Amino acid sequence: MKAAYADRYGSPDVVGIREIERPTPTGDEVLARVRAASVNRADLDGLKPKPGFMRLFMGIRAPRSQEMGTDAAGVVEAVGPDATRFKPGDQVMTDMFAAGHFGAFAQYVCAREKAFEPIPIGMSFEEAATLPHSAVLALQGMRLRSGRTFKPGGKVLIDGASGNVGPFAVQIAKAMRAEVTGVARGDKLDFVRSLGADHVIDYETVDYTKAGERYDWIVAVDAHHPVRAARRALKSGGVYLTMGGDTGTILAALGGSLLMSRFGDKWSGLMLWWKPMHRPDVDALKELIAAGKVRPVIDRRYPLDQVVEALSWVEDGHARGKVVITLPDG
Ligand SMILES: NC(=O)c1ccc[n+]([C@@H]2O[C@H](COP(=O)([O-])OP(=O)(O)OC[C@H]3O[C@@H](n4cnc5c(N)ncnc54)[C@H](OP(=O)(O)O)[C@@H]3O)[C@@H](O)[C@H]2O)c1
Repeated sequence: MKAAYADRYGSPDVVGIREIERPTPTGDEVLARVRAASVNRADLDGLKPKPGFMRLFMGIRAPRSQEMGTDAAGVVEAVGPDATRFKPGDQVMTDMFAAGHFGAFAQYVCAREKAFEPIPIGMSFEEAATLPHSAVLALQGMRLRSGRTFKPGGKVLIDGASGNVGPFAVQIAKAMRAEVTGVARGDKLDFVRSLGADHVIDYETVDYTKAGERYDWIVAVDAHHPVRAARRALKSGGVYLTMGGDTGTILAALGGSLLMSRFGDKWSGLMLWWKPMHRPDVDALKELIAAGKVRPVIDRRYPLDQVVEALSWVEDGHARGKVVITLPDG
């Protein structure tokens, strides 16, 4: 089968396609023929480890795992002897992170069955492939580990509203009846409005941490402000959580900001409660989709042999929503 791989770190053009043996599922593994995959920031972060200290885990000089891709949707081809939840012919989606590895940019994916869920009824493979990583992250960013969330009518700001996670976060916050502000680059603000955002901010002309508005809940998908500054934009009792960022931001979110949260009335920190393919959250997403409150937005589609172009489109900041890699049926 064809599979994308990267045997060194670098820009997307280090990624190649090679022929490898199709895996045979063992234990409780599921083998699925991929019909669509989607690009996530995690794929790019894997090529240029971010934060930098991730090289300690991913390989100092070169990636230990050469597999590429986290999200895929397709059809079950075969299952291992201990698999109980799926059978050949089932339509499934996966975030391979849930099984602890990558490999979604390939003709077949093989992973433990806990990494798979049925695709939403009536949804295309392309749309389903956008959900597992980004939409689950967006949903889990609407609550703290304790389950605490914002009240209906609360003011929610999504910093980074135009990429992979942000468009889902805007729609989910709206579905939770928040007043939503989306932050993105000027030429993407119409897109963010089209997702239902009540207000938009162009980060190139306005720094939301200094604009005077106060929020109940701020989600930074990839922090571009110091935690201290973001806390200024919180109401008393407000929450600022960041999903990612550079090494400095992450360390600040992990350390100092948690201390500030302990002694202040605002909570700020790094989102450390992500559970990929957490079934209750996948089910909640499916309900939002069925109710018409959340819809995947696909920006572009590329065939597998243009995986470099697909990754570059996202890395270069062009994407509005998700970029999908499509694979033919058969
Ligand atoms: N915490 C966890 O457990 C966990 C797990 C997995 C992933 N993650 C993290 O989740 C995040 C997912 O991000 P994503 O895939 O949604 O990223 P993305 O698609 O690349 O989106 C990035 C967003 O940031 C905006 N942006 C870019 N430069 C900016 C700037 N200078 N100031 C303000 N905004 C700027 C972009 O806006 P424009 O496009 O309009 O420029 C875009 O909306 C990543 O940080 C990843 O590491 C966290």
